[in-house]
Amino acid sequence: MSIRAFFALPLKLTVVRRLSDHADSLCHLDPKADVLWVDSDNYHLTLCFLGDVSLEQVNQLESLAAKVLLGQPSFQVQLQDFAYYPVNSHLSVIAAIAELTPELTELRQRLVSMLADVGIDTRQQDFKPHVTLGRLSANEPFNAPEVWPKMDLMSVADAVVLYQSKAGANGSIYTPLFEISLASDGS
Ligand code: 2AM
Repeated sequence: MSIRAFFALPLKLTVVRRLSDHADSLCHLDPKADVLWVDSDNYHLTLCFLGDVSLEQVNQLESLAAKVLLGQPSFQVQLQDFAYYPVNSHLSVIAAIAELTPELTELRQRLVSMLADVGIDTRQQDFKPHVTLGRLSANEPFNAPEVWPKMDLMSVADAVVLYQSKAGANGSIYTPLFEISLASDGS
């Protein structure tokens, strides 16, 4: 059995609600409903995308990640900007952009190295930390504003989750496979 999986930071509920309000306030820019707005239950910040892995690899990663992230402190993720950009020739996204802090870089680097050690190569992936709010075909014009609404949100990153991604009738369904807590006091 193969499982499409990715490591991500879940967001705190208060931040999810505020982001969802922001996404609602952007809907007037999408009068023809071209954008597939992400259900707020699915908001997350992707750390690395694994592609298809086996159940054995998921079990292996759970114990490895617990070791690799042992003592890794929790930290704040700051979301301050919106952006609209193409991710490939078919797809564009509207996203909340997170500040690329040393803590976020370090956390991702630990995961990328751990994955490389088990033969899952994610090193070439661009890391532009973001929370996808909506997706649309790269061919559809989106009337992005010159000045986006102001946003200043902080979400504590206190756990890393491996999610399964499954195609559903109304977009992808993300299911947590395991969660590793980050140290609350840095110990
Ligand atoms: P996104 O954060 O821009 O939406 C599950 O599909 C998650 O993995 C989503 O968060 C998605 O990006 C990300 N993802 C999907 N395919 C990817 C790829 N080829 N490279 C990097 N991230 C990918």
